[in-house]
Amino acid sequence: MNSPAHSRSAETGSIAGGVMSLNRMIDPMRVFTRASGAYMWDETGKRYIDYHAAFAPYLLGHGDKDVDEAVIASIRRSESLMGAGTTPWEHEIADLLVESVPYLEQVQLTNSGTEAVAFSIRLARAATGRNDVVFIQGGYNGWMDSVAFNLMDPASTFANHRGGEEHSLRPISAGMHTSTPQGAHAVEFNDREAMQSLVETGQIAAVIVEPVLQNIGIVKPQPGYLEFLRRLCTEHSTLLVFDEVKTGFRHALCGYQSICQIAPDLSVFGKAAANGYPLGVVGGKAEYMAYCCHPDAARRVLIAGTYNAHPFVVAAATATVRKLKDRGEEIYTHLERLGEQMESGLRALFAKQDYPTTIVRVGSAFVVYFMDHEPVCWSDIARHNDAERDVRYRKALIDSGVFHFPVTTKQGSISFAHIQADIDETLEITEKVLEQLN
Ligand SMILES: Cc1ncc(COP(=O)(O)O)c(C=O)c1O
Repeated sequence: MNSPAHSRSAETGSIAGGVMSLNRMIDPMRVFTRASGAYMWDETGKRYIDYHAAFAPYLLGHGDKDVDEAVIASIRRSESLMGAGTTPWEHEIADLLVESVPYLEQVQLTNSGTEAVAFSIRLARAATGRNDVVFIQGGYNGWMDSVAFNLMDPASTFANHRGGEEHSLRPISAGMHTSTPQGAHAVEFNDREAMQSLVETGQIAAVIVEPVLQNIGIVKPQPGYLEFLRRLCTEHSTLLVFDEVKTGFRHALCGYQSICQIAPDLSVFGKAAANGYPLGVVGGKAEYMAYCCHPDAARRVLIAGTYNAHPFVVAAATATVRKLKDRGEEIYTHLERLGEQMESGLRALFAKQDYPTTIVRVGSAFVVYFMDHEPVCWSDIARHNDAERDVRYRKALIDSGVFHFPVTTKQGSISFAHIQADIDETLEITEKVLEQLN
């Protein structure tokens, strides 16, 4: 690992911090040079079976031919960024998204999930005339100031927190405004009482929630929780925003909302929607989306961006969504089958260990928790998961050629490019890793 790229330190190299996007920091640092299908390679030529999938967008696998060829064809057709007026391709992807996801009546495109979440908050504030937003402890909705709080805080930082209450706010970054009230509130996933106390105040513009909490592995909604959120938000004229940046397209073409059959007011998508190309989608009920062209300028929400609906990204999204639509049964059946094999294989291997583990999976997304029960929220994980063993497990897998992000609870993502032999090889490697792990 002595390449010029790797030997430059965070302090002296041209990249502040040594890596672009500090969430990608890993220890030890590795230099990756290419990826294809289910694999990626580092600069030494070592191959890894990839379950990180760049934080999950590669649902079809790295370099999916249909998606990449659509991008190349778009370039060849001179579909440049015009930055004025509209284009046929942005209408095409908007129609496709609205046709595919039943609860989307209208959409706008952005360059990232973060931007899409930011716009959803603006729309909710404009529509309700309220400031405050509730989000979920341990969830990640992007890096902007309005939601950059309360991520994977150690249990010691909230020792006095009790279920049924909101958390104190803990920023995830320095440099955020400290003197202005943020109007942000964090509650635990599945904690109905805490959510109810906040929403009942009548001050809440939006509840932003991942329908399955996937920043911290796979935390499923308890039966009735999402229905409860829907009812509560409706009763108090609060907008329910589903952050489907991770769940959308991965679990079903129509989003997790089609599986749980709960209609959010607004939804946010990204990641798998363009199979690795930089896209965010904000959409939902036309009555709320219409605030971006409200006749009263004072009530109009600005949704803008030089690169929004960039033709190459739109080409990627159109090809991805089309493929998921045309070959959905084959793709989601394949993902479910491999997911099931991974889950049962891991269960059998971990059952032989003398420490507690719990494997949780939804379709192609899975995680091993080093605790004796399926968690219901972050505080449950922070208090019971053996994070140190989890990270050792991940690092040992990486050394052996299976890549999971080496931070505790980060979900594994199987892609359509993975095949049975990859799962078999992964389980063989896992067995050897577990023999060494104590
Ligand atoms: C659930 C969720 N929402 C929003 C975001 C932010 O998306 P982006 O990184 O594209 O800005 C992420 C990113 O990991 C996410 O997982």
